[in-house]
Amino acid sequence: MIAALNPNGEPDMTTLLAPPRHIAIIMDGNGRWAKARGLPRAEGHRQGTENLRRIIRACVEFDVKVLTIYAFSTENWRRPPLEVRLLMTILETVIDRELKELNDNGVQIRHLGRLDQIAPALQKKIQYACDFTQHNSRLILNVAFNYGGRDEIVQAIRRIVADGVTEDKIDEDLLNRYLYTGDLPDPDLVIRTSGELRLSNFLIWQAAYAEYYFTPTYWPDFDKEELRKAIIEYNRRKRRFGMTDEQIDTA
Ligand code: IPE
Ligand code: IPE
Ligand code: MG
Repeated sequence: MIAALNPNGEPDMTTLLAPPRHIAIIMDGNGRWAKARGLPRAEGHRQGTENLRRIIRACVEFDVKVLTIYAFSTENWRRPPLEVRLLMTILETVIDRELKELNDNGVQIRHLGRLDQIAPALQKKIQYACDFTQHNSRLILNVAFNYGGRDEIVQAIRRIVADGVTEDKIDEDLLNRYLYTGDLPDPDLVIRTSGELRLSNFLIWQAAYAEYYFTPTYWPDFDKEELRKAIIEYNRRKRRFGMTDEQIDTA
C-alpha cells in the first residue's frame, strides 16, 4: 500500500495511490556519487547495493508486483577490467548475503540477460538464486545483468528461427514470449537516476509505452521517499495508449 503525502509532507493514509504493477529502474550515478565525496568508485557501487536493499523492501511494502533493475549492461564490458570484475563480485556477494532475506520476504528472483559470457561460478550462483526463489510470488525481482535490449531481440529472433516458427505465426505476442521477460507485464514506470536522459539499451521493446521518470538524484541516495515521489508523479500521468482523453475517461 502506498499513501500520498499531506501538505506537511507526511504519508496520508486516507489518500492511497495505485502502485505501478511493474517498475523498472536504471540504477545510475554510483560513480559520480563517490566522486562527489572524494571516494573511490567502488564505494559508490557498495552504497548502491545498500540502497537496492532499501528499494526492494519499499517495493514489497508499496505492493509493487514486478521490479526490474538494470545492474550490468552488455555495454558495461567496455569499462576498465578492474571495475568489471568488481561489478561481478558485487553480484556474487549480494546473492550470498541477501538470498535468505529475499526468500523470506517472498521475492522471486529472475535473471534477464546472457549467462553464457559470465564466469561459470557466477552463472551457477545466479541460477541457484532463481531456482531457490522460483515459488515466491510477493515481488518478482528481475535482475538485468549482462543485459542489452538489442541483444535480447537478436537472441529472441535466433530462437524463433531455430524453432522453425513460420512467418504467419510471427506477431508481437510471439516475440514477447521469446524475450527474457516472457510472461511478465510490460513496465509501467521506468525510473532513471543521476540525471541522464536516455535508456542505454534497457527494455527497449517492453518499455514502448512506459511512463518515464528522470531524477538528478544519484542512485545511492534514491531512497524510499524518492520512490514515493516517483509513484505520486506516475499517478498524475494520463496513459492514453493512442486513444483520446474522452475514451480514457469513459473506460
Ligand atoms: C551505475 O552507476 C552502476 C552501473 C552502471 C553498474 P555508474 O557506475 O554508471 O555511475 P556513474 O554514471 O559513473 O556516475
Ligand atoms: C546503464 O548505466 C547501465 C546500468 C545502470 C547498469 P551506464 O552508466 O552504463 O549508462 P551510459 O553508459 O551512461 O549510457
Ligand atoms: Mg552511469
